[in-house]
Amino acid sequence: KDLDTLPDRLLAWYDRHARDLPWRVSPASRADGNRPDPYRIWLSEIILQQTTIPHGTPYFQAFTDRWPTVEALAQSRDEDVMTAWAGLGYYARARNLLKCARDVVALGAFPETEAELQKLPGIGPYTAGAIAAIAFGQRAAAVDGNVDRVFARLLALKGDWAAEKKVIAASVRALVPEERPGEFAEALMDLGATVCTPTRPNCPACPVADMCRARAEGVPERYPIKPAK
Ligand code: ADE
Repeated sequence: KDLDTLPDRLLAWYDRHARDLPWRVSPASRADGNRPDPYRIWLSEIILQQTTIPHGTPYFQAFTDRWPTVEALAQSRDEDVMTAWAGLGYYARARNLLKCARDVVALGAFPETEAELQKLPGIGPYTAGAIAAIAFGQRAAAVDGNVDRVFARLLALKGDWAAEKKVIAASVRALVPEERPGEFAEALMDLGATVCTPTRPNCPACPVADMCRARAEGVPERYPIKPAK
C-alpha cells in the first residue's frame, strides 16, 4: 500500500540525521560490524521510560561508568543503585532495574526475543520491542508516544484513540524491514522527536511528508486527536 517506500526513505534519512546518543552505534560504525550492547540499550530504555534525553543522558553516563556490564550492576549493593538513581524518581523502577540485572545474570545473558524480554522486571511491550530490534536485530516494533504521533499524522487517524493506537501498532509492525530493524526503530523515534514534533512539525525536513495525510489536510499539528482527559 502507500507506505511501502517509508522504511527505505526513513533509513536513508537516518543515515544523514541520526542523533548521536551515547548508547547508539552510528550507521558508519555499524557498517564496520559493530553492534549495540544489549546492556546499554536496556539501561538507556529503562532510564528514558522515566525522563527526557537531556535529563537522562548524564545518568546513563554515570551508571555505565560505575557499572560497565550487567554483571557489575547485578553485584552492586542495593543502596548504591538507589543513590545513583536519585533524581530520576519512581524508585520501584530502580528496584526493578537491579532485579532485572540479577535475573539476566542468572539466565546467562539478555534474552533476544520480545516475548522472553517481557518476562523480565520493568520490561513492557515497548521496551521489549526496542531491545529486540536495536540490540538483537529482530523484526520487532518499538512504538512510543513519538511513533504514535508520527503515524497518527501519516494516516490522519480520527477515530477513538485507544482503537487507533492498535491500528498504529499493526501498521508499524507491518513496515519493520528485514534489514536494519533496530535503526528503523531509532529512526522513527528521531523523526518524532526532531521533525514531527508535537506543536511545530517541520514538514519541509520530513523524508515522508509527501505520504502524510495530516499534512495534505493542512494542519498536521492537530494530530493525534486524543479524548479530553
Ligand atoms: N527514547 C527512548 N528510547 C530512545 C532511543 N533509543 N532513541 C531515542 N529516543 C529514545
